[in-house]
Amino acid sequence: MSEFRIGDDDFLLDGKPLRILAGALHYFRVHPDQWRDRIRKARQMGLNTIETYVAWNAHAPRPGEFDLTGGLDLGRFLDEVAAEGMHAIVRPGPYICAEWTNGGLPAWLFAAESVGVRRDEPQYLAAVEDYLRRLAPVLVPRQIDRGGPIILVQIENEYGAYGSDPVYLEKLVDLNRAIGITVPLTTVDQPEPAMLDGGSIPGLHKTASFGSRSIERLATLREHQPTGPLMCSEFWDGWFDHWGAHHHTTSVADSAKDLDDLLAAGASVNIYMFHGGTNFGFTNGANDKGVYQPIVTSYDYDAPLDEAGNPTAKYWAFREVLRRYNPDAVEETPAEASAAPALRTRLTRTVSLSAVADALGDWSTHDDVPTMEALGRYEGFAMYRTEVDATGPAVLEFGEVRDRALVSLDGRPVGVLARDHHDRTLGLPADARGTLEVVLEDQGRVNYGPRIGEPKGLIAPASLNGHPLGPWRAAALDLTDLTPVRDAASPADPALPAIPGPTFAVGAFELDEPADLYLATRAWGKGSVWINGFHIGRYWSRGPQHTLYVPAGALRAGTNEIIVLELQSGSADVEFVPWPDLGHTDF
Ligand code: GLA
Repeated sequence: MSEFRIGDDDFLLDGKPLRILAGALHYFRVHPDQWRDRIRKARQMGLNTIETYVAWNAHAPRPGEFDLTGGLDLGRFLDEVAAEGMHAIVRPGPYICAEWTNGGLPAWLFAAESVGVRRDEPQYLAAVEDYLRRLAPVLVPRQIDRGGPIILVQIENEYGAYGSDPVYLEKLVDLNRAIGITVPLTTVDQPEPAMLDGGSIPGLHKTASFGSRSIERLATLREHQPTGPLMCSEFWDGWFDHWGAHHHTTSVADSAKDLDDLLAAGASVNIYMFHGGTNFGFTNGANDKGVYQPIVTSYDYDAPLDEAGNPTAKYWAFREVLRRYNPDAVEETPAEASAAPALRTRLTRTVSLSAVADALGDWSTHDDVPTMEALGRYEGFAMYRTEVDATGPAVLEFGEVRDRALVSLDGRPVGVLARDHHDRTLGLPADARGTLEVVLEDQGRVNYGPRIGEPKGLIAPASLNGHPLGPWRAAALDLTDLTPVRDAASPADPALPAIPGPTFAVGAFELDEPADLYLATRAWGKGSVWINGFHIGRYWSRGPQHTLYVPAGALRAGTNEIIVLELQSGSADVEFVPWPDLGHTDF
């Protein structure tokens, strides 16, 4: 049992000053088989603490559910942190930003428009209370004063960049204390006076987030947190990527220098990220400051430990800096990266999405286009069908498209409506008659700013030539179990140069033993990939990333299955390559 508190000058562990040297590692972005390896490599880099957010919506995919198993076993993750002899910082949000869909808030929470977002509103706070109560058995006994690793818990996240409701922050503090959180509580904000003031309340220790100009930023923080240790709770050592933009990297030398400046000034740090991991499945977030920009699948972040857990040049440079400030630094070092197995196979069986759609969703009838939330699913794909019968030219129009609609008429593709182009209307072929079908993709929920909590899907009204269009048959697709796809797939036409989408394509490959792989995606258009039922994420020819990381934990010795949902068109060839390709940089 130990005591951890915030002193006049330092963090104090059993009365002795402790400089926090933390690294961010999100358990929900790393296969659980690899947690221990990543934590150990953090210690080997010279860190003494692991920091993680908690992604509420990952644990609670639907109302009433709360999953703490497998890759969501936060208790096990924290136990592994403790077993490596490290401390833990937990940031349970409820809002986490983090380039994670909806900033971690469950989409089902906002089904009623009257629910408040990140403010003192009873329905919202009742849900937050339920969430924290479910986390209590995991977090409370793992605090340092009960013999566990947790030394700090953060309230909200960069709240000063979003809201100004101190009562909301007070109630969050009360809820955390009520469930039994006893360790000191912090807030984090960007080092702007208004944000540092608006994002915290008395009694919470203010920290800052930044990735450069350490001295100047610490001085700003000091003005707003006059006592106690200075801490950069997010030392940004890299950055995230959007589809269609470049892969972000930062200079190793500059980043190491900024870290050195920070530590030389006596501050504590949480390196964001130490190891970024992967936005598996449909978990990526998005930004929208006028243009919708979804986050890519890789969350490599140009972090010291890369997406596959290999040390980079930044790892070795940071290690050298950290060792000078950590009296307990260890001598052990991790192995350097080695090439992944190169393999080839083919997608041999296919079934069109339309043909299998009835088995993948519960179809219902609606007068106008329903949102995905109204269809009872909160991620991935929805499909919509209606009958059209137009004479002459015809224009299809929706209120909004969130986020990408593939439109076909009697099975013939007629166009794409893309949110990132602000598309809402589409000209149909003259005398359009027959079944109009829309395959709608939610490309990831906005995780920062006022659009958090917004509905997804086709947004009403739908019209044809200005007249209301309907009724609609609609379904949100359940892609958690692809048995209907396996059952319905039949041999692909070998004469075709590529597989036309939207289509599921199935193949197999052999492995002597499980190993991390990189799946090349350059020969494909846009879609998603499942390996042995594990959804490794989305790909898109726009890039920048052109490989998908496949963790060894998703693979097995012997025969492995690959299922691709190709929305555009893609080669039947499958290729795993030795090294990742995260795309072009801007210099
Ligand atoms: C902020 C947020 C983080 C993350 C970073 C950018 O600091 O607090 O969750 O979004 O920006 O990666």
